[in-house]
Amino acid sequence: MKNLESLIEEKLKKAGVSYRLIPLPENLAIDIASHVAFHKIKMEQAMAAILYQTEKGIIAAVKRADTQIDVEKLKKLSGVKSLKFASERDLAALGVETGLVPYLGLEIPYFVDVRVLEIGQAYGTGGSKTLGMAMDPHDMVKVNHGKTGDFTYFEKSKEMLASGRRRLLSGITPSGDGTLHIGNYLGAVRQFVKLAKTHQCFLMVADMHALTTVQDRETLKKNTETLILNELALLGDLQNITFFRQSDVPMHTELTWILNNVTPLGLLKRAHAYKDKLAKDTSLDEINLGLFNYPILMASDILLYKPDLVPVGKDQKQHIEMTRDIAERFNKTFKKSVFPLPEPYIPEEVAVVLGTDGKRKMSKSLGNIISIFEDEMVIKKQVMSTYTDPMRIHPTDPGHIEGNMVFVYLDFFGEKKRVEELKKLYKEGKVADVEVKNYLFESLMKHFAPARESYKELMNDPGLVKKILRDGAEKAREVASETMMEVREAVGLTNRYSFFGYSQK
Ligand code: ADP
Ligand code: TRP
Repeated sequence: MKNLESLIEEKLKKAGVSYRLIPLPENLAIDIASHVAFHKIKMEQAMAAILYQTEKGIIAAVKRADTQIDVEKLKKLSGVKSLKFASERDLAALGVETGLVPYLGLEIPYFVDVRVLEIGQAYGTGGSKTLGMAMDPHDMVKVNHGKTGDFTYFEKSKEMLASGRRRLLSGITPSGDGTLHIGNYLGAVRQFVKLAKTHQCFLMVADMHALTTVQDRETLKKNTETLILNELALLGDLQNITFFRQSDVPMHTELTWILNNVTPLGLLKRAHAYKDKLAKDTSLDEINLGLFNYPILMASDILLYKPDLVPVGKDQKQHIEMTRDIAERFNKTFKKSVFPLPEPYIPEEVAVVLGTDGKRKMSKSLGNIISIFEDEMVIKKQVMSTYTDPMRIHPTDPGHIEGNMVFVYLDFFGEKKRVEELKKLYKEGKVADVEVKNYLFESLMKHFAPARESYKELMNDPGLVKKILRDGAEKAREVASETMMEVREAVGLTNRYSFFGYSQK
């Protein structure tokens, strides 16, 4: 086969196109970020050429690095029915390598996204590790009769770009009975609702994690179903949120195996969850490996999606630190920055919401919770048994606000003015505990009314829930498979006989 570089040059010259060849340093990684840094260009100027296998043969799609391909639109434009990422073997047959696709030199149909035409100078590789190329994007279609068309979308909205923090990810394990209490809401779900306004969110129901402790088929099913409904009802609008179930995306367990190999035993032995178990005099024979490996599965959950932020409760901080550690080890071991290091996001004021006993973290297992979706009577009872000021016996005794859980919750759910009023009256001994508690109950009911309504609707429409999960899994798999292809490449699981590809819809 003729040297592709000279082939490209020949073609470009023939088309009367001007271009600039830029020698690249020997050890420059082939990923986009490294090229953007080296050329000192904007992300939008970096070209990504993606090869697809179709029923009509291989085609290439050229897009800006800051956009995503809309598969359906590309199918329409190219007039094909099936689009799959080209496998390693497909590429080898064309004589090219992943990451280095000299589409201009190949005799294949290619499509250039219209957004590419807006950027002034487009930068790509000249199909070799040592040569970069810059050219006027309008010239890209002059060679080989390339076609332009509209087949991408922006991954980030303007707000996301402005905030500089683009993607976030989190998960909740259906290890309890799957119901969420106001501690979960304040510590986790609420952050999501807020952050989803400006970020692209991935939120999973971590049922694989639950398997480490829930080992009964009916229980796991029930917990997972309950958690799904609880979360969906609380989230409301799913705009910007990809909601999915961990076990619907098999790449999580696949990556776990690979990360197992860069995770030191010592790191896992320092994990709180494992240490706590040991401290309780549990013998080694009673601790399953799933529990021990829990942090690695969680690292996989996170790293597959390359999030910038991971919103979690304080109790999960160590897991995020371990994830960073594992990501760094992977990047170092395989000499490629596949995984950006995620940051934990733990808003201070809700770091730990105390339970109705006023002593310990609100937690189902401690029975000190206030529920969200239970019958009104149950919630009322929980509110009425909430810890206030033990020294106060009569409503006329001056009461304390500090450490008084009713006021702690009211600060979150009550109307500010009314809460301030009640605090003043309480300190002066002018209002009874039961009155304040009634106000808390009312406030909770008002706050969660839309969610409680939505819960009932979802409960009665399993088809809708299924559709939400299916759409979520599809989107999640798309992102996860891109990362896994990079991972396979980085560790050397691909070779010249490889054909494997994660199929896209
Ligand atoms: P628990 O810790 O009660 O078993 P989960 O593990 O199901 O609850 O927690 C789900 C999410 O809710 C996690 O992000 C966790 O940090 C958060 N969370 C749970 N309880 C609280 C609490 N009392 N205060 C703040 N956040 C909490
Ligand atoms: N382990 C987390 C918890 O118990 C749940 C979880 C699973 C998670 N995978 C995750 C949280 C990924 C954040 C990111 O709360």
